[in-house]
Amino acid sequence: MPITSTKEMFKKAYDGGYAVGAFNVNNMEIVQGITEAAQELRAPVILQVSAGARKYANHAYLMKLVEAAASETDIPIALHLDHGADFEICKSCIDGGFTSVMIDGSHHSFKENIELTKKVVEYAHAKGVTVEGELGQLAGVEDDVSVSEEDASYTRPEEVEEFVSKTGVDSLAIAIGTSHGAFKFKPGQKPRLRFDILDSITQILPGFPIVLHGASSVPQNFLEQINKYGGDMPGAIGIPEDMLRTAAKSAVCKINIDSDIRMAMTAAIRKHMAENPSHFDPRQYLLPARQAVKDMVAHKISNVLGCDSKA
Ligand code: G3H
Ligand code: 13P
Ligand code: ZN
Repeated sequence: MPITSTKEMFKKAYDGGYAVGAFNVNNMEIVQGITEAAQELRAPVILQVSAGARKYANHAYLMKLVEAAASETDIPIALHLDHGADFEICKSCIDGGFTSVMIDGSHHSFKENIELTKKVVEYAHAKGVTVEGELGQLAGVEDDVSVSEEDASYTRPEEVEEFVSKTGVDSLAIAIGTSHGAFKFKPGQKPRLRFDILDSITQILPGFPIVLHGASSVPQNFLEQINKYGGDMPGAIGIPEDMLRTAAKSAVCKINIDSDIRMAMTAAIRKHMAENPSHFDPRQYLLPARQAVKDMVAHKISNVLGCDSKA
């Protein structure tokens, strides 16, 4: 099946009360692990590429990997630019075959964010590509931009209507307390998401797809495995999965997960190498790493996002 835009995916997700998983991809094993899980569970899926991933793997390689995944499966797969920082990177991805882009103008003023987002929307829509915008700032690290907790700010519901109508975006990423990376809350801090803000936004924008970034849940078993086999990630805390389940049933149509993939792979590789210190063929440790990605994504699809059997 050819790679698709997110338009139809989001409409079905909104109406069906589930969310589509958007998983970050950087190499072949990650693409395969995610798409094999999605295919087996008949789930639509979004493969997303950050600027860092493009720098690491090269646009052409990622494009071909995702095209290969699409031709090996018969589920809807979208290829999305994650956190596009400017018009140029969005244009380059649109011209280079992506079906969806995010323009992240959240670090700019409200007015500049609108101008930049509108420019990307005009270019993208002329080519049938969907656009995600962002209002509000998450704490954590996105590519080279680091936002401290003090500088993070929740999305202001009073701004969303003007932003969406002036820009023409197809979906909106909002900040309600999620954050990027594996350390989302301080030790002892009770994880909390501002569902009241999500509810206000949903009332202002009925039927409009909302996106949650920073939605890894940092499962305890990965953490224990990483630490048991020589890793050191004390105090990592993610978003509890019951909160993500609640979000997936709401106007949230896209849930972004990257850190959990990193942790699944790292946990599997650390365990494999600790148990098989003589192994030096990368296939020996990348095989369990790919399986760990697949198992983790299958769990998210079936038990968190609710998008299984929706392809
Ligand atoms: O939101 C950021 C994603 O986790 C991508 O991370 O920029 O290190 O590839 P990256
Ligand atoms: P996590 O770091 O929580 O996986 O978030 C990923 C993300 O939002 C990518 O845009
Ligand atoms: Zn993000």
